Amino acid sequence: MGGGATVNVDRDALIRAAREAASHAYAPYSRFHVGAALAFADGSVVTGANVENASYGLALCAETSAVAKAMNLGARGGLLGVAVIGGMNGEPGPVVTPCGRCRQVLNELAQLGGTDPLIWCLGADEVLELRLSDLLPHAFGPANLS
Ligand code: THU
Repeated sequence: MGGGATVNVDRDALIRAAREAASHAYAPYSRFHVGAALAFADGSVVTGANVENASYGLALCAETSAVAKAMNLGARGGLLGVAVIGGMNGEPGPVVTPCGRCRQVLNELAQLGGTDPLIWCLGADEVLELRLSDLLPHAFGPANLS
């Protein structure tokens, strides 16, 4: 997997996009507002926020919302970077890393284009930078079914 193309990603702009996305979170139940921003090789950025539901277990995470949005716009790879930010009532706190389901959802899009995106996980006082393959080692993906 090629993971070296991050020179094209403006990390700080991506973080700002994720923060802006978090302002659109619909999280009346947990009050935990999350925003995610995806950066693509063509320079485009697609964002998402978490969308909760009165049936609590149906909540959609920010990262999954962003991937669904991007794929509905035609994305099938080219994922170079992801920024994730969140906190209670929108206030930054501990670093937010993608949940297990979101890691798998991100992996589908990444593997389609053969990239291993950098994931910037934001907290109030730190940014954790990890490769998707660090968050989801030995991933099962589309290549397994080809
Ligand atoms: N959430 C995300 O949007 N992304 C994550 O990676 C972790 C959790 C959301 C789901 C739910 O709406 C709220 O945060 C509390 O779990």
